[in-house]
Amino acid sequence: MKKTWWKEAVVYQVYWRSFYDSDGDGYGDLQGLMEKLDYIQHLGANVIWLNPCYQSPDKDNGYDISDYYQIMDKAGNMKTWETLLHEVHKRDMKLIMDLVVNHTSDQHPWFLESRSSKDNPKRDWYIWRDKPNNWRSYFTPSAWEFDKTTGQYYFHSFAIEQPDLNWKNPEVREAIYEMMRFWLDKGMDGFRLDAIALLAKPDGFPDAANPNDIRYLTNHPGLHDYLKEMNEKVFRHYDIFTVGEVAFVTPEEGLKYVAEDRQELHTLFHFEVCDEMPSWDPLRFKQIQKRWYEALWGKGWNSQFLNNHDHTRQVTRYGNDQEYRMESAKLLATMLHTLPGTPYIYQGEEIGMTGVRFPSIEDYNDIAMKNKYAEEVAKGRDPQEVLESLQPLSRDNSRTPMQWDDSEQAGFTTGMPWIKINPNYKTINVKQALADPNSVYHYYRKLIQLRKERLEMVYGTFCDYTENEPYIYAYTREWEGQRLLVVLNHCDHANHYELPKALTATNRQLLLNNYQDVQETGNILHMRPHEARIYELE
Ligand code: NOJ
Repeated sequence: MKKTWWKEAVVYQVYWRSFYDSDGDGYGDLQGLMEKLDYIQHLGANVIWLNPCYQSPDKDNGYDISDYYQIMDKAGNMKTWETLLHEVHKRDMKLIMDLVVNHTSDQHPWFLESRSSKDNPKRDWYIWRDKPNNWRSYFTPSAWEFDKTTGQYYFHSFAIEQPDLNWKNPEVREAIYEMMRFWLDKGMDGFRLDAIALLAKPDGFPDAANPNDIRYLTNHPGLHDYLKEMNEKVFRHYDIFTVGEVAFVTPEEGLKYVAEDRQELHTLFHFEVCDEMPSWDPLRFKQIQKRWYEALWGKGWNSQFLNNHDHTRQVTRYGNDQEYRMESAKLLATMLHTLPGTPYIYQGEEIGMTGVRFPSIEDYNDIAMKNKYAEEVAKGRDPQEVLESLQPLSRDNSRTPMQWDDSEQAGFTTGMPWIKINPNYKTINVKQALADPNSVYHYYRKLIQLRKERLEMVYGTFCDYTENEPYIYAYTREWEGQRLLVVLNHCDHANHYELPKALTATNRQLLLNNYQDVQETGNILHMRPHEARIYELE
């Protein structure tokens, strides 16, 4: 297994608008991030993934870019961004930028030109048709929007304000590659590539048999040619790290994106858990881990995450955010940092931040949720019922501001935050977590430190001993003659786990656990609710 810095990395995702506001306008900003870099460094993460901060009308929180070469006013300016990069590097950390190349904003000059007339030279930079097909977009009932000026429809995989670029057009591709080089030449360390599985579109856009199953938006022939070209013309000329957001992909298809011998991307996020497993389903989760491991191991690299800015906080969605919040947050961390792949921490996860239920749709900002709400209410459904059905998975669950302390607005801003603070900030906040040696935060620190010392956690082969066990997850990671055993009791009650023969022949030494002590009788481990342990097997 080839060693690389990005395999050993621990990535910390910064949703900057909700991270730290340095100027009191209610939005987090790059200066604010800079002021908190020591915090991230102290945690031990060494790569920062920064959500999009390019110029944008901000209809989809920066995922609608109107100028790839400028920084959004709310975030700061190019000078602040350059200082940020410098400060990140000074701390021996890396910065990867989120980049959206499947679509632009409808305010991007390319699109303004494209929509202006049928014979404009940029017409073919986007996708225009006389008639729509029956596809939905992620955010709207139709993926096509009629444009009065020229009497045609344009295609958008997301909001109406996010027209898709036409990747078939070589001029588009060249313009994107040039822009990528512009950023990489500034010395940043890679990209998180948004919606990358959507670049290729099918010939003729045939109608879908089931328009509600939007898998048809992804993974069309031609995609890998674009990624190969992107790599050849851009990525391979830099020492960078690329991670693609790849929805609706099987492990076998996933390998095509990340196989080292194909030279496309380094890693991917697949969504077999976050998109396709609505609530905790242990047997299914284990199967997903095993299948991806078997398909990728030794050939390409995976990622580990259970939440991000699009997905409800992990301790709320997949753990227990009430009685066992701290234990559960620590267990999920243990799992993510010991399963094969690069682990991601979404800001606030390291203090066990939770999801939120706001009382009114007015309190929400998420365009996906708001559009869906309007669509359902227009069908005559009861608004309160619609609100309640959308709350659990609203993207705003994870977008509420970082809870720094128990002062007004959680110490996030001196102004009015762009979105409400989670009311539990008085008890869940960074100040409290730093002061408590048993906090989730300090556990993350130890875990990350351990991952740096024990490369089995990175490069070790993986073996699951509990495939059919509904509660206990026990697996080993083995590398260069060293073996670690991870045992997790992912549930609200106690369980015993008797170690199988294969794991009892050796001495075991406890390296990390999320309770004050461990209880075991011989080879029987007594696991309390949400207990997590890492042993070394000698
Ligand atoms: C995925 C991003 O993570 C999400 O926030 C965004 O809305 C869509 N792609 C569209 O760019």
